[in-house]
Amino acid sequence: IRRPPRSTPKPSSAASDVYKRQIKKNDRGGFTVPTNRLYPHQWNWDSGFTALGISSLDKSRAWQELVMLINAQWTNGMLPHIIFHENNPNYFPGPDQWQKNAESQTSCHSQPPVLASVMWQMVSRGTEYDKMKAGTLFNSIMAYHRWFFSARDPDKEGCVSIIHPWESGRDNCPDWDIGLNNMKIPKNLEQYFRKDTSYVDKLERPTDDHYDRFMTILKYGRDCNWDNVKMHNEGPFLAIDPGVNFILLRANKDLYKLANYLGYSETINEIRNWIKILEQGCQKMWNKDINAFTSFDKRTNTYCDAITNASFLCFYAGVGSNQQKSYMIDHCNRILNNCNYGMPSLDPMHKCFESKRYWRGPIWSIMNYMIAVGLEDINELSLADKIKNDTIQLVKKNGMAEYFDPITGIGLGGRDFSWTAAIHLELLKDEIDINSKHNFLNNKNVIN
Ligand code: DGY
Repeated sequence: IRRPPRSTPKPSSAASDVYKRQIKKNDRGGFTVPTNRLYPHQWNWDSGFTALGISSLDKSRAWQELVMLINAQWTNGMLPHIIFHENNPNYFPGPDQWQKNAESQTSCHSQPPVLASVMWQMVSRGTEYDKMKAGTLFNSIMAYHRWFFSARDPDKEGCVSIIHPWESGRDNCPDWDIGLNNMKIPKNLEQYFRKDTSYVDKLERPTDDHYDRFMTILKYGRDCNWDNVKMHNEGPFLAIDPGVNFILLRANKDLYKLANYLGYSETINEIRNWIKILEQGCQKMWNKDINAFTSFDKRTNTYCDAITNASFLCFYAGVGSNQQKSYMIDHCNRILNNCNYGMPSLDPMHKCFESKRYWRGPIWSIMNYMIAVGLEDINELSLADKIKNDTIQLVKKNGMAEYFDPITGIGLGGRDFSWTAAIHLELLKDEIDINSKHNFLNNKNVIN
C-alpha cells in the first residue's frame, strides 16, 4: 500500500494561519465548500483552486479534494459544476431544480476546466506520491476534455461554447447580456425564491432580471433532460467564452505535459490535436472592432464589446500574434491605470462597469492568479508583479472576501472564501518554498 508522505513542506506561520482559519473552516470532510452559507456545496473550479492552494501544506487532502470532485463525473465524461453532497436547503437552486428526479445530486453543466492545470502544478513540484495520484485521475480528465469537445463543439468549429452563463463561472458579466436579453422568459416560469441575497447585499449580486434568465435556461435544460445536442442547437443561450476556451487550451497544454511525464504515450496525439484545434479556434474570439479578445454570442452572431478579466487569459493560453499580444498589453496597462487595484472583471471605461456587482467590475483572486501566470509566461514581469501584489495586498487589508472593489479595495460577496485563501497561499508559496520553481524548470522528463 502506498501511503502519503509523512512530512509536508513547512509553510511560513502566516500562510499556515491562513490555511487553518479559512480553508479548514470550510472543510466538510474530504471536500471544501467555497464559503459557509452562500455556497454550502462543492463547486468544480473552486475545488480545483483550493486543491492547488493546500497542496503545499497537505498533499493527501489536496488530492482528496480532486477525487471527491471526479467521483461525481457523469458517464458521458462531464464534470458537473456543483456536487450536492448533502441536502442543504440554504442554497438555491438545489438538486430538485436541476433534474426532475434529482438522481445524480449534481448540477447538469460544467464550469471552467482548471483541473488538468492544477494537477500538473501539483505533480511538477511534487513527489512520486503526486505522480501516482495523478496517474489514477488521468483518464477521468481525458474523458472530461473529450466531453467538452463533443458536447460543446459538436460542429467542430474549433472553440467550445457554453449553454448557461453559470458554465463560464462568470455568471453576470456583460459578456452574456446580448444572449440573455435575446431570450424570452416563458410565462409559465415557476415562482422561485433566491437565497443568495439573504446573505449578501443585493447590490453585490446578479440582478433579479438576470436570475429570471438563469432560471429560464435551467427550466429548458430540465425539461429536455439536459440533451446536449438540443441545448447546443436550440437552447435559449449559446455563447463562446474567452474564459472557458483559454482555460481549456491551457489545460490541454498542461495535460500534454502530464501525459508525457506519466508516460501515457497513447494519449499524446489526441491531446496534441485538441491543442491545435483550439489554437486556431480561439482566433474566432478576436474582436476586430475593439482589437481585443472578447466573447461571442452565437444566437445573434454578435461580439460583445466588453474587455473583461477573461480576455487577459489569452496569455495564460499562449494565444495571439505579436500584434494581438501588443494590443492586449496596451488594454491591460490602460485598465490598470484606470483603477486603484487590478485586475477588474470589467474594463472600468465600459458602460456596464459596476465596481461592486459580482462579475461586472470586482476583482477575483483566481482570475488574477491565472492572468499573472500568463503574463509571466510572456515575460511581462512588472505587470504580473503588479497583479500579484494587488491580490496579496487586498487580502491582507480586507480579508478573504469572495471578490474586491477595484476602486476602494473593500471586500465583497461571501466572506472566509476558500479560493481566495487558496490563491493567497499559492502566491505566498514562493516565499515559503523558493525551490519549487527551480525544480519545475529543471524537470528533465517534461516535454514542453
Ligand atoms: C451561484 O449560485 O451564484 C453560482 O455562481 C452558480 O454556480
